[in-house]
Amino acid sequence: MVHRSATVFEEKSRVIQQIEFAGEQFVLTLEAHKSSITALPGEFAFVDCGENILLRRPLSYLRANKEQKTVEFLYKIIGPGLEALSKLQPGDEVSLMGPIGTGFNFEKPNQIPVVIGGGVGIPPVLFLAEYLKNLNQGHAPIAFFGSELPFPFATVKSLITVNGMKNDNNTSIVDMENKNIPCRLASLNDFEGCYQGYVTALAEQWIRTLSKEELKRIVIYACGPEPMLQAAAKLAEVYQIDCQLSLEEFMACAIGGCAGCVVEVTLPEGVAMKRVCVDGPVFDAQSIFPR
Ligand SMILES: Cc1cc2nc3c(=O)[nH]c(=O)nc-3n(C[C@H](O)[C@H](O)[C@H](O)COP(=O)(O)OP(=O)(O)OC[C@H]3O[C@@H](n4cnc5c(N)ncnc54)[C@H](O)[C@@H]3O)c2cc1C
Ligand code: FES
Repeated sequence: MVHRSATVFEEKSRVIQQIEFAGEQFVLTLEAHKSSITALPGEFAFVDCGENILLRRPLSYLRANKEQKTVEFLYKIIGPGLEALSKLQPGDEVSLMGPIGTGFNFEKPNQIPVVIGGGVGIPPVLFLAEYLKNLNQGHAPIAFFGSELPFPFATVKSLITVNGMKNDNNTSIVDMENKNIPCRLASLNDFEGCYQGYVTALAEQWIRTLSKEELKRIVIYACGPEPMLQAAAKLAEVYQIDCQLSLEEFMACAIGGCAGCVVEVTLPEGVAMKRVCVDGPVFDAQSIFPR
């Protein structure tokens, strides 16, 4: 079964806080009652960035908190839309359309979800790791995140052991550590406690330590720049692991009407065109990078 929110809402949300991190990265918390109840990992919101910005911008949910009625987003300014969003202050109103799309499928029982996130691709997979841990249904997520900008999260030296890791690659994200989710970070830059290299190479160090039985329980969930997605798909191919990728494309309508976001996918029945906004953004890795 594919997880899909039954309804896309348009709702007026309110800025609770907006925290800026190095490299024009922001974590935005909105009070958004409907999204906070219904958003699932891998789904996204289509965010109105203000009256001077013609098109809404798609952003993946980073967290949805039913109790506090809030949702969070992590974004990096690329152009005028997200720049306008970054100017919003607590109390300002934001129109959201969401939750949209077909998110991650985490039906496989007794699985070990390996989430791999790169840069501003981290939100949907971090959401998935925390969501599955909270579900408490036997999933044992592990997270590998990479960034060339300083990580837009508080970090900590991890006390959780991760096999295959060198002792000096022990930095994690505070929220993951507090939730007892094993997590390690990678960067080509010289960030303290981070693996020097690509995040997929870091994940492979751990995957290499697994038994055949453990490998059968692995599912890779990845979001990030295209070369990272391709490397994640390759990793899955080499170790014969299921792999789901969350894609990004330009979006004009985000409800399946304009075909502006189509990608070519390879299915058992042949090549097809799929819309990232409603058929995705999550796709099976083999359909995007055929083996
Ligand atoms: C489903 C989905 C989820 C996303 N989640 C996040 C998220 O959680 N955090 C985040 O920071 N970003 C996310 N993005 C990307 C984000 O939507 C774009 O970066 C944003 O729309 C750019 O808006 P802007 O106004 O800053 O720049 P624009 O003015 O819209 O873009 C400036 C230039 O950047 C390039 N560009 C913009 N968007 C894209 C794109 N999607 N792909 C390739 N090149 C592009 C183009 O060259 C464009 O001319 C997501 C995209 C999708 C489709
Ligand atoms: S953005 Fe219009 S169909 Fe996907």
